[in-house]
Amino acid sequence: MSGMANLEELDRRLAEKWISGIWRIPAGARPGDPKTKIQPHLWKWADIHDALLQAKDQIKPERGQAERRTIRLVNPGAKDTEMTSHTLLFAFQLIQPGEVAPPHRHTMSAIRFILQGKGAYTNVDSQKMVMEDGDLILTPRWAWHEHAHEGAEPMIWIDGLDVPFIQSLQVISFEPFPGERMPLSEPRYDTSAYGLARPVTGDNDKPNPPLHYRWKDIYPALKKLAEGEPNAYDGYAMEYVNPLTGGPTLPTLSCGIQLLKPGQRTQSHRHTSTVLYHAFRGRGTTVIGGQEFKWEQGDNFVVPLWHWHEHANTAASEDAILFSMNDAPVLKPFGLYREEAGQPQMGL
Ligand SMILES: [Fe+2]
Ligand SMILES: [Fe+2]
Repeated sequence: MSGMANLEELDRRLAEKWISGIWRIPAGARPGDPKTKIQPHLWKWADIHDALLQAKDQIKPERGQAERRTIRLVNPGAKDTEMTSHTLLFAFQLIQPGEVAPPHRHTMSAIRFILQGKGAYTNVDSQKMVMEDGDLILTPRWAWHEHAHEGAEPMIWIDGLDVPFIQSLQVISFEPFPGERMPLSEPRYDTSAYGLARPVTGDNDKPNPPLHYRWKDIYPALKKLAEGEPNAYDGYAMEYVNPLTGGPTLPTLSCGIQLLKPGQRTQSHRHTSTVLYHAFRGRGTTVIGGQEFKWEQGDNFVVPLWHWHEHANTAASEDAILFSMNDAPVLKPFGLYREEAGQPQMGL
């Protein structure tokens, strides 16, 4: 018997006993640099908006049915999971006047970034948070939440979640609220109180309260920042911090907002975190791994881990503003976050 046949025979006999020789792992599975199946990709706003409008009359956000009228962005490299990256999910939700998306809770953490409409609110942990364009609202892990619409026109927002990460840990739990609607209580988590001082009683001690970052506060801060020196790789960029810890927006994901002035370009870099972007205002181009992606208001794109990327505002007179969500918080505690500065890429 040849050596190869001997080895095949050995592998077969081991497999019968649920044992596997490490010699069976191909050398390519030990790359020098991180490799990801996630592909750079851009989703046009027109396609997302169309999908929501088509689902508008066919899908109702009802318990035991769809729960939410939501569509999600599927990365071409993650067809099996239908997620936007290996850690993060960007979804878009539409709610009609008078509708209630029923209350529930889950082990996944979520953020809402509000895009269109007026008059809807989200109730998180019995806190009524009225949604306005550009607001960021947190639904921390295991917090009860429902959405209701008291306005006159459809409302649309981004749902950002850590679903694939929680899935990979196999700790998904989901629970419907015991009752049709959640109660509302007096405001307990006033963000403005969380500057340098905060109450010492009650559940204000929770490390991850359902915070509401209002665009009317964030935008002036961003404009003010834009009077100074930009960050080389992100322009005028801010992170939505947890004011109680100074840490990331949520334990498993963090959000950011960045402004690029007309004509402004950033330098190229790469990092082991993955970032999902939403073009909130303006238009521009982002080069990812040598591939050019042109975006305009409403478009979304993903920068997969360890891909070189740089941004440019290509408008002559309009600021560009990008909202983003990243998975750095699940890398940093384990020393797995790495960043590298690069050379300018082709194109631009
Ligand atoms: Fe939910
Ligand atoms: Fe980056």
